[in-house]
Order: sequence, then structure tokens, then C-alpha cells
Amino acid sequence: MRDGDASMPPVWSTADVARLAAERVTPDVWDYIAGGSGEEVTLAANRAALDRVAVVPRGLVDVSACDTGVELFGARSALPLAVAPMAYQRLIHEGGESAVASAAAAAGVPYVVSTLSSEPIEDVAGAGGTTWFQLYWLRDRAVVADLLRRAEDAGCRAVVLTVDVPVLGRRLRDMRNGFALPSWVKPVNTDGDVGERVPGDSVIARHTSAVFDPSLSWRDLEWIRARTRLPLVVKGILDAGDAKRAADVGVDGVVVSNHGGRQLDGAVPSVVALPEVVAAVDGRCPVLLDSGVRNGVDVLRALALGATAVLVGRPVLWGLGAGGEGGVTAVLDVLRDEFETALRLAGCPDVAAARRLTATTV
Ligand code: FNR
Ligand code: LAC
Repeated sequence: MRDGDASMPPVWSTADVARLAAERVTPDVWDYIAGGSGEEVTLAANRAALDRVAVVPRGLVDVSACDTGVELFGARSALPLAVAPMAYQRLIHEGGESAVASAAAAAGVPYVVSTLSSEPIEDVAGAGGTTWFQLYWLRDRAVVADLLRRAEDAGCRAVVLTVDVPVLGRRLRDMRNGFALPSWVKPVNTDGDVGERVPGDSVIARHTSAVFDPSLSWRDLEWIRARTRLPLVVKGILDAGDAKRAADVGVDGVVVSNHGGRQLDGAVPSVVALPEVVAAVDGRCPVLLDSGVRNGVDVLRALALGATAVLVGRPVLWGLGAGGEGGVTAVLDVLRDEFETALRLAGCPDVAAARRLTATTV
């Protein structure tokens, strides 16, 4: 955490912001953000696979006007993009989740507040934009029911159930660092404590195994459905059969995700799984993608492969580390500018046209 917002030099890409953040956050926090699980094969593969998606641009289309907006779960978003749920944002900057949510609100894109946010759901949802609540399946079902009620009362517009964390992936960087949370960072929505530093282990992993319930299965979706009126989105789907079943049971959206390479190392890159998921869902609900999105062309690539929108993870945290709320605004500005340019260059006056583009793998 840094005091205040040191002024940020100009940036032209999210990689520029990453370099600034790397200088400004502590090495163990950097590792927690940047790291993946195991040998970090999936972390790298997400990026490599996105780079191999080549979009076929259309010509002779009037793109003097270009509309980057889209409707997501009943609300307008200025871009086909939302901020991914990410735990413990006060680790990175004292502005925490509220700073990120304010920047997202100003940019007109949804912010997904994590079950493990370090500020209360109500404070984050109060930032003024569209907020979705990300749910982890906790052993204490009374707490889950309470979180669902609180999210709805706070004005959240969707529940995003994350299904790829029955246990935490083996994050070797955090284990080696004996990663722990400072006293001012707590999972305030739940039990409020993750425990003390343990040499050779990650407190995040220990806390997860203590409070998350690895028994989550299809039948539990009904339990959740019965406790919220909000649209239910399932995050962490990679298998076409799972996607089909999710659509069959009437979920309102799926997020094709390998958790940014932080869970199963060796999992398929999300963008490789995307076309089969899109085919299996067959238009019955929106399909979102995350894991490795770093620029506006990646957003275009996802749309051309049939996604409705993307979630952006680490680049937003780089912005927070580099310059607090202003740093997040800089990241979202870069992504907007890149996406609008890419849309025009591909001959698309709007997002619907991008979804009709052809993409091939090179
Ligand atoms: C995450 N992610 C995550 N997902 C989730 O459902 N709940 C959470 O609390 C967290 N926490 C979290 C913390 C940090 C530091 C990171 C980097 C990621 C996963 C996140 O929502 C998303 O799936 C990935 O971050 C997407 O990949 P990129 O964009 O970071 O490559
Ligand atoms: C993470 C968990 C907490 O990816 O979702 O760090």
C-alpha cells in the first residue's frame, strides 16, 4: 500500500502501467498479483493463445461513427468489458476497492466486487456505477445467504458464482514468500481474519481451505437461485459440456475463465475453449471471457470468437498500484482507446458487427 497518489507519467499501453506498478508495490504483493499456479504454464499460455488469434478485418464500411457500448445483464456498459473480481485490493493501494469501483463507474463499465473484498460490499457498491457481486461457495451457508441478501440490498445487478476454486491452486511464489496479509487488509465481508504468516505457505491458501466448500456442485445452483432475484452468472467454465448444462439449467451468463492461470496449471487457455463454449451455449445466454486480456485488440479477438464481453483482471490492479484511482482510469482509458481504434480498423461501426467478424488461429 502506498500513501497518496504519486503523479503518474503518461502511459500508452497496459504494459507501461505494469512497469510503474512493479516499482511501486512490494515484491510479495507483486508476486501475489502477477503469479500463477505451478510452473505458470497456463498463465503464459493464455497470452500466447490470444496472440495467435488473427482477426479478418472488413473493408468499405462507414466507421465515421463507432459505438463501443453494449448491454450486460440489463444495464448499459460503455465497453464490452467489466473489471474482474479480485480479492484484497487494499493490499495494493489504500484506496482499495472503492477507488477501482469509482474509476470503473466513471468509465461506464461494471465492477465485480469479490467475496474477499477488503472493503464492505455496501461501500464498494456505493461508488455509483454498475456493480456485480462475486460469490465464493463457503462452508458456512448462513454467511452465503447473508452475502446474497447484502449484495441485492446494496444494489448489485448480478451474482457471479466462481466455480474454479474448490481449493486454491499451488501458487509457488506465495508459498515461497510465506505470503500473509498486513493488519489493515481483511476479508471484511466474512470472518474478517485470515490468520498469521506461516513460513513456506500462503495464508490465502490456508484461509481458502478453511472457509471454502469444495463440495459445490450443480444442485447448489438451485439453492442460490432460491436466495436471489439477481441474474446468476457462472465463472470458471472451460468445458463445452459444462457450458451446455449451465445454459440448460437457465443460468444468465457464463464466464470462460481459467482464473488467469492461478488455478489448474495446464488448464486450456480460455480463448482456446471459447469457440466450443459459444457453440454449446448457442445464444441462450451471454458468454464472457477472461484470462490474459491486456489490450483492446484482445477484446476484439474475443468478440470475433463469439464472446459478448470480457473481464479484465491484472491490468486494473497495475493501474491501482501505479496511481490509485487515477491509475485505474488510465488503464481503462487505454483499453477504450485501443478497442475503439481496433473496432474501426476492423470495419465495425459497433460491437454487434465485431461479433460477426471472422477470426482464425495462426
Ligand atoms: C483474482 N481472481 C479472482 N476471481 C474471483 O472469482 N474471485 C476473486 O476473489 C479473485 N481474486 C483474484 C485476485 C487476484 C490478485 C487476481 C490476479 C485474480 C481471478 C480474476 O477474476 C480473473 O479471472 C483473472 O484475473 C483474469 O485473468 P487476467 O486478466 O488477470 O489475466
Ligand atoms: C485468487 C483468489 C483469492 O485468485 O481468488 O487469489
